[in-house]
Amino acid sequence: MKVIAIANQKGGVAKTTTTHNLGVALAAAGKKVLLIDLDSQASLTISVGLEPLEMQRTIVDVLKKDGAPISECIQRLRDNLHIVTSIIDLAPMEMEMLSRASREKILDRALKPVKYNYDFILIDCPPQLSILTINALSCADGVLIPVKTDYLAYRGLTQLQDSIQEIQELINPDLKVLGVIATLYDTRVADDREILELLRKEHNLLGVIKRLAVAKKGLYEGLAAVEQAPDSQIAREYSAIADMLISGREKREELYNG
Ligand SMILES: Nc1ncnc2c1ncn2[C@@H]1O[C@H](COP(=O)(O)OP(=O)(O)OP(=O)(O)O)[C@@H](O)[C@H]1O
Ligand SMILES: [Mg+2]
Repeated sequence: MKVIAIANQKGGVAKTTTTHNLGVALAAAGKKVLLIDLDSQASLTISVGLEPLEMQRTIVDVLKKDGAPISECIQRLRDNLHIVTSIIDLAPMEMEMLSRASREKILDRALKPVKYNYDFILIDCPPQLSILTINALSCADGVLIPVKTDYLAYRGLTQLQDSIQEIQELINPDLKVLGVIATLYDTRVADDREILELLRKEHNLLGVIKRLAVAKKGLYEGLAAVEQAPDSQIAREYSAIADMLISGREKREELYNG
């Protein structure tokens, strides 16, 4: 079993798209997968085709003081693909979390009873280094970092790496940075190509996801690119990354060159 946080404090770098596609790809490969939507925008919940406000039990019930057991808060998307949904406005709960002892380990404790029912647990983090992201990184075995191929997103990596290092030192020494995924890549833009080169040189680059309309196409029906357009470049890259996660060898031998 592997718990993987998909994290970047920068907004709009395809964290949710990555979580969704990897989750579906891992499930299609026969793995048992739990998705956790940890973002108050509830984008992952919406992406899989659920209505956040219609859910009886959500991540709030899991994390709040004296909350419900996580097993009662899991929605079944299909036999081997499950989700804990989020809900708009987690802010009051974040305040409550901050006031608690062991505030970094709330999600870790909540996951324990179901952890071994799954091969993979993927956590979609919010675009802040908030207590929610810290909870995700504190219970994860590994972190995947989607990065948009632009200069500001690239510069934002330093802050994320510092936070990850601090969590490794203080809370979760087992946390491993699995690698970086370049996202929203536009081959025609010189800046994108330059940043991709830097990511390739300085990081363990696991995949390059092009900016393509197909990424959004299935969203109205709750479909990820990997199921809606399995032959697309996006689907192939995400499936290749899923295969690396399954093999436990997060190293890309041959990388797409654009
Ligand atoms: N490869 C792609 N090609 C085109 N559009 C994409 C691609 N990947 C993601 N998008 C779109 O970019 C936007 C941001 O993606 P996404 O919501 O996954 O990012 P995020 O990092 O989760 O954002 P936030 O920080 O707000 O949570 C969405 O509209 C999404 O549909
Ligand atoms: Mg998101």
